[in-house]
Amino acid sequence: MKAVIYRDYGLPDVLTIEELEKPTPKDNEVLIRVHAATVNRTDCANLTAKPFVMRFGLGLFKPKNPILGTDFAGVIEALGKKVTNFKVGDRVFGFNDLGISSYAEYMTFPSNDAIAIIPDNASFEEAASSIEGPHYAYNVINKVDVKGKTVLVHGATGGIGSACVQLATHFGAKVTATCGTGNELLVKSLGAIRIIDWQMTDFTKDKEQFDFVFDMVGKSSFGACKPLLKPKGVYISSELGPNGENIPLSLFSKYFGGKHVLFPFPSDRPHSVKMMSLLLKEGVYKPLIEREYEMEAVADAFSYVLSGQKIGNVVLKIAER
Ligand SMILES: NC(=O)c1ccc[n+]([C@@H]2O[C@H](COP(=O)([O-])OP(=O)(O)OC[C@H]3O[C@@H](n4cnc5c(N)ncnc54)[C@H](OP(=O)(O)O)[C@@H]3O)[C@@H](O)[C@H]2O)c1
Repeated sequence: MKAVIYRDYGLPDVLTIEELEKPTPKDNEVLIRVHAATVNRTDCANLTAKPFVMRFGLGLFKPKNPILGTDFAGVIEALGKKVTNFKVGDRVFGFNDLGISSYAEYMTFPSNDAIAIIPDNASFEEAASSIEGPHYAYNVINKVDVKGKTVLVHGATGGIGSACVQLATHFGAKVTATCGTGNELLVKSLGAIRIIDWQMTDFTKDKEQFDFVFDMVGKSSFGACKPLLKPKGVYISSELGPNGENIPLSLFSKYFGGKHVLFPFPSDRPHSVKMMSLLLKEGVYKPLIEREYEMEAVADAFSYVLSGQKIGNVVLKIAER
């Protein structure tokens, strides 16, 4: 089978496409013919091993697992002996940010992990684009109760931000969102009731105050967003913040009783994937897909995602149908 390989950490030019043995599923695993995956910021962190702490999971000096990929959408081709919850031919999608070798024509995955059925109304590309962003966005939203509350989503066109606007709206929030010039209508279509163009105005000087500020590109800070928060408002970022301040702030700021920080350590991937299967089926969630690349152009896909300018998701097309 063909697979995207990286034997060293680095920029996209370390990537090659090689022929490897097709994997065999263990007793509790399914064998999947992969049709689509995304190239996302987690994959970029795995490729570059940045931040450095990634190396403790991926391999200190070089990648322990040479096949990249953290999400997949495909078809089950074979079952391990103990698998009873799926059948051959099922269309499935799933995710593990630690890396699951999904940039390959075939992969194996535990049947009781973060894997669910792709509903009939979703394509492989749409399913693959409905996992990473929504998982991180949901892990922000579920830290608080957004129902009936006002939320400012900063970075609403990103993979996580675009999912955050849709999911926060779905869970009952009134969402104001920031985006760059030209993306206003797109972000409105995701459910935002008001848009602020962060390139034209300083969004931190907005007159409205919010129950929650979700900085989904991690480009701002608690200090800068404090004026935007109501007296007990909460700031949550998808990044660690300047000098990693969001971790200590999340531990201590709540004890002062006012505006504070929470940090969204992502957990429960299986729940996120099952929830997204349902939301896709109900037509509640529609992923933003900006670009699709063939497997051979994987280095171009990474270069674009590393630019930090992608809108929503970038899909990598793997095996032919
Ligand atoms: N916590 C975690 O576990 C975790 C996991 C994955 C990723 N992350 C981090 O989360 C962040 C977002 O990831 P993502 O995949 O959603 O990002 P992304 O899709 O790459 O976001 C790109 C979008 O961000 C907007 N943007 C770029 N620079 C900006 C700026 N200076 N201010 C405001 N918006 C800006 C741009 O849209 P506009 O021009 O329309 O604004 C761009 O389209 C990244 O920093 C990533 O490293 C965290």
